[in-house]
Amino acid sequence: MSRPGVFYQKRIVLGVTGGIAAYKAATVCSRLVQAGAWVDVVMTEAAQKFISPLTFQALTHRPVYTDMFHIPDGNNIPHIVLADSSDLLIIAPATANTIGKMANGLADNLLTAIAMATPAPILLAPAMETDMWQHPATQSNITKLREWGVEVVGPAAGRLASGAMGQGRLVEPDEIVGAAQMVLARQGDLAGKHVVVSAGGTREAIDPVRFVSNHSSGKMGYAIAEAARDRGARVTLVTSAVLSAPFGVEVVQVDSAREMLAAVLEATEQAEALVMSAAVADFRPMSVAEQKIKKKGDSGGMVLELVRNPDILAEVAARKSSGSGPQVTVGFAAETEDLLANAQSKLERKKLDLIAANDVTATDAGFAVDTNRVTLLRIDGSVEELPLMTKRDVADAILDQVVQLLATRTRA
Ligand code: CTP
Repeated sequence: MSRPGVFYQKRIVLGVTGGIAAYKAATVCSRLVQAGAWVDVVMTEAAQKFISPLTFQALTHRPVYTDMFHIPDGNNIPHIVLADSSDLLIIAPATANTIGKMANGLADNLLTAIAMATPAPILLAPAMETDMWQHPATQSNITKLREWGVEVVGPAAGRLASGAMGQGRLVEPDEIVGAAQMVLARQGDLAGKHVVVSAGGTREAIDPVRFVSNHSSGKMGYAIAEAARDRGARVTLVTSAVLSAPFGVEVVQVDSAREMLAAVLEATEQAEALVMSAAVADFRPMSVAEQKIKKKGDSGGMVLELVRNPDILAEVAARKSSGSGPQVTVGFAAETEDLLANAQSKLERKKLDLIAANDVTATDAGFAVDTNRVTLLRIDGSVEELPLMTKRDVADAILDQVVQLLATRTRA
């Protein structure tokens, strides 16, 4: 069974206030419900002028709260129940008015009462005209709320309801969901840890337009980066793949093995763990032509002389033995034959704590697909053979081991 994501069975109160962007809250709501959260929507009176409670009721299959004094089940006082039972309060869009009330201790409607009463983290996604956003009152209210621990995402710059351009647009639903994910992930088992992940096949230039590379898509590394983020880690993704960056993950884009080496060494200086899922080219052209190489004559081939690239894991291991670098290093063994024997020898040779052995000849596992089948070999001799899984689930299985390994290490 798939490991549930951060939103699974989380109780989220989604507060919607009165702005033209209120319709985007429906997308946020739908994403959260699809991710397995129980979402209770609370709307201010002004919000209902822009979007109907029925929309949210249909999306959540739950009553929508609009009135402080309406007690639906006859007993429980809504603002207390919602405040106490929720894991997260998101207010999107948050108007200048609601922000102002929150920053000044006013609780004159159900939403602001919940905001005052809840011990849960609060995430605000402001949306308003630029002048209102830049007004000293709003700026000082936001500063005050931030000091109190409220998280703020956005606003973005762009076209506003008035037609003017400027800062004040509600950030896109994906960004709100991503920010919510980060807030919830703080309770994860990698909270407070810095994890560096490498991804993609490196590209070794031949000339300004050509390169030598391999079939790695980077999907496995991106899945690990995302999973580590969802478990609360600060994540640096050193990648040669060009996939869309997971929200909240620091991305360092590289091309060649030597660039990846420099980026990995820098990123792991203070990191707790390194997962090298990149398919690093072992060789690079001896020299890179400054101009595009031209064919000579009508026939005849071309000889490309290759030289060895540095082994990134070997360099990390060398630093580790002198007391710096990550406490836990994980490698991948992409093999086409003798899978476990080759993986075991790489585990030892590269001084890893864990290696994920990966038969890249299978059509449903390895390069460019969304599933993978790996066997995890640990330096202490334990072997875990995993069935065919999504790359995300493989990522979590690897991180389960990283968490265990980190628990056994203490930095000198
Ligand atoms: N790796 C590395 N630096 C390299 C080559 C590989 O850090 N120059 C890392 C990979 O990211 C992976 C592990 O080493 O985590 C094993 O990579 P793989 O390509 O399977 O093995 P190689 O060391 O290249 O050995 P071989 O080519 O002999 O299979």
